[in-house]
Amino acid sequence: MGSKRWATVGLVGLIASASAQQPPLTAVQKDGESKLDDRSDGADWAGYGRSYGEQHFSPLKRIDDRNVSRLGLAWSIDLGPGNSVSTPLAIDGILYFTTGYSVIHAVDAATGKSLWTYDSKAAEKSGFRLRQGWGSRGIGWSRGKIYAGTHDGRLIALDARSGKLLWSAQTFAADEPRYITGAPRAFRDMVIIGHGGADVGAIRGYVSAYDADTGALRWRWYTVPGNPADGFENEAMAAAARTWTGEWWKMGGGGTVWNAMSYDRETDTVLLGTGNGSPWNQKLRSPGGGDNLYLCSIVALDAKTGRYKWHYQVNPGESWDYNAAMDIALADLTIDGKPRKVLITAPKNGFLYVIDRINGRLISAKPYAKVTWASHIDVATGRPVENPDARFGDGKTFELWPSPMGSHSWQAMAFSPVTHLVYIPTAEKGALYRDLPPEKQQNWASDVPLMGALAGLIMEMDYKAADPRSGSTALIAWDPVAQKEIWRQPGPSGVPGSTMATAGNLLFQGTLDGRFRAFAADSGKPLWSFATQAPAIAAPITYSVAGRQYVTILTGGGLSVGITGEALAKYGIDYREQKRRVLTFALGGRKTLPAAHPFRPTPPDDPSYVADAVAAQRGAIVFATRCAGCHGMQAVAAGSAPDLRTSSVPTSGEALSAVVREGVLSAAGMPPFAEMRDGELADLRQYLRNRAGDLRAKIGK
Ligand code: HEC
Repeated sequence: MGSKRWATVGLVGLIASASAQQPPLTAVQKDGESKLDDRSDGADWAGYGRSYGEQHFSPLKRIDDRNVSRLGLAWSIDLGPGNSVSTPLAIDGILYFTTGYSVIHAVDAATGKSLWTYDSKAAEKSGFRLRQGWGSRGIGWSRGKIYAGTHDGRLIALDARSGKLLWSAQTFAADEPRYITGAPRAFRDMVIIGHGGADVGAIRGYVSAYDADTGALRWRWYTVPGNPADGFENEAMAAAARTWTGEWWKMGGGGTVWNAMSYDRETDTVLLGTGNGSPWNQKLRSPGGGDNLYLCSIVALDAKTGRYKWHYQVNPGESWDYNAAMDIALADLTIDGKPRKVLITAPKNGFLYVIDRINGRLISAKPYAKVTWASHIDVATGRPVENPDARFGDGKTFELWPSPMGSHSWQAMAFSPVTHLVYIPTAEKGALYRDLPPEKQQNWASDVPLMGALAGLIMEMDYKAADPRSGSTALIAWDPVAQKEIWRQPGPSGVPGSTMATAGNLLFQGTLDGRFRAFAADSGKPLWSFATQAPAIAAPITYSVAGRQYVTILTGGGLSVGITGEALAKYGIDYREQKRRVLTFALGGRKTLPAAHPFRPTPPDDPSYVADAVAAQRGAIVFATRCAGCHGMQAVAAGSAPDLRTSSVPTSGEALSAVVREGVLSAAGMPPFAEMRDGELADLRQYLRNRAGDLRAKIGK
């Protein structure tokens, strides 16, 4: 694979003209819209954040703070290997969810009985894109159809009853380093999808809205300007271009919409959360500075036409991977005695923003986690007041909090219109940033597709910060009007779990170390807990069938559990052994899970192994740059991929070559590295056998 592929800026198609006339609402559409409406009764969970406003809140209250102690397992399904962190949907008594690389399942929501499965074969079709593996976090629904994005860039529509493929649209070209992990959102008679990729390739972000019935492209909106010589697609791009310098378009610019989108039905507006710059380091991307619109912004578009309405940028001139792609919860709040229509968002950068969703003006912003990059956000200008050292210039290193993992990432935040609190799954971590040395700045993108290389800076994520908060997580209940913390519950270190609030005064959240818990939403009092035997960081949902309320969560990790295997080994998370399941709870549920056995990594016998520290050292570098992202630092896996210290594959050079170069396991998510040279592979093999040897020594085998 040539690096060219990754550096190519692909411009797929041009903006399609918006459809001239809206057809009258059909019965199906009316029904669909009422299920997605923010005021719907909660029987269904029809969209990623339940309804258009993405609050991850349900008005159901049959299960409440007084009876939740009687909540028990009603049914469970064991899932196969691969990612299992998606948010399910429940519509008309059917539960839908996606696992691995967009394998869509439909089951009876009251019993778990399988109705249909559709395998999009996305892993096989993804090729080199599997290197940025993730798997999908959610699906969409409207008008009797289930929508899913696939890693290789398709948006597909399935018949919700039969699972039959109705249409498929290719949302980007086959040779581009983009991939889809996020959930499509339905609105009007359209469905919208973005993608990721700004961390690994030179790409220009955009979203595409498709006709929900036919899959025809209705409109597309780029998030950053392209080459001015090609002309701008619209006024918004011309305006944005004035905030960039140098030849940014050669680096793509970034700004991908990989997670959050909301729909404000009252104003017929689609709200997007845009991602970080590509590359991360602004000095390479836009050397003369500038705000670099519309990176790291909430952007409002006219839903019918895709025309720009307004934007609010959380990080002007972004340089730290502080993307604004996290939940955009729409809410009606009373602020200074006046009813306000707002959106609430907690992007990676540590501040909780309350923004007027009619005009995009900042109402307030306060930090809920440790922040070193800015002292505060100036409400008058809407701009952050940055720490003068935060841009890590002149060879200086800056200790940045939050780290690029964010104080809040894709794990769902909930807002309860009953308590008027927002519940933020928070991670506390810092990172060290400094510029690439001058000799490397010329070819920052010429290396293998690697986050570090394309970030265009030197970054240490895993450094040992003196601050005792480092690595900790918490569930924080926050008052967005007073902008202050109301309660918090500490979580295990690593990655926090997604949240869901209900009108029964409950807040549900799972944890990385295998607990699914419920708290009193108003006070934070712990009320209920269930041992899930696996990471439980996916977003829970709730729904009702025949008057009975259910709560469902998917368990098991995915790449999302993090890459620092050593830190996670204590939770016993292993790729092959972890219990990936769908767990569904109801009052009086009495099912139990089979007993779980603690996982102990066991190395293979390797009698022909001869130590070679020099080759192993070279192999360690190959491993760290190309394999550790999935197989864990120092080959201690974190559940995203097998622990290679326990694999017999590296004991055979041929077997290792078949897996790594020929890609014989690509359908299972192991990316092919066809370009790997004989010497590199031999070094890598030496390193892996060495690490297995270390493990044998450690356990005395
Ligand atoms: C994007 C994530 C990802 C990356 C990057 C990755 N792998 Fe994998 N790898 C996987 C997954 C997932 C599997 C499990 C496939 C399966 O279920 O059989 C796997 C399986 C393997 C296996 C087989 C293990 C066994 O015993 O079955 C080997 C060997 C391996 N990978 C080596 C490597 C090496 C060497 C690199 C770096 C050059 C690498 N992988 C990079 C995800 C990844």
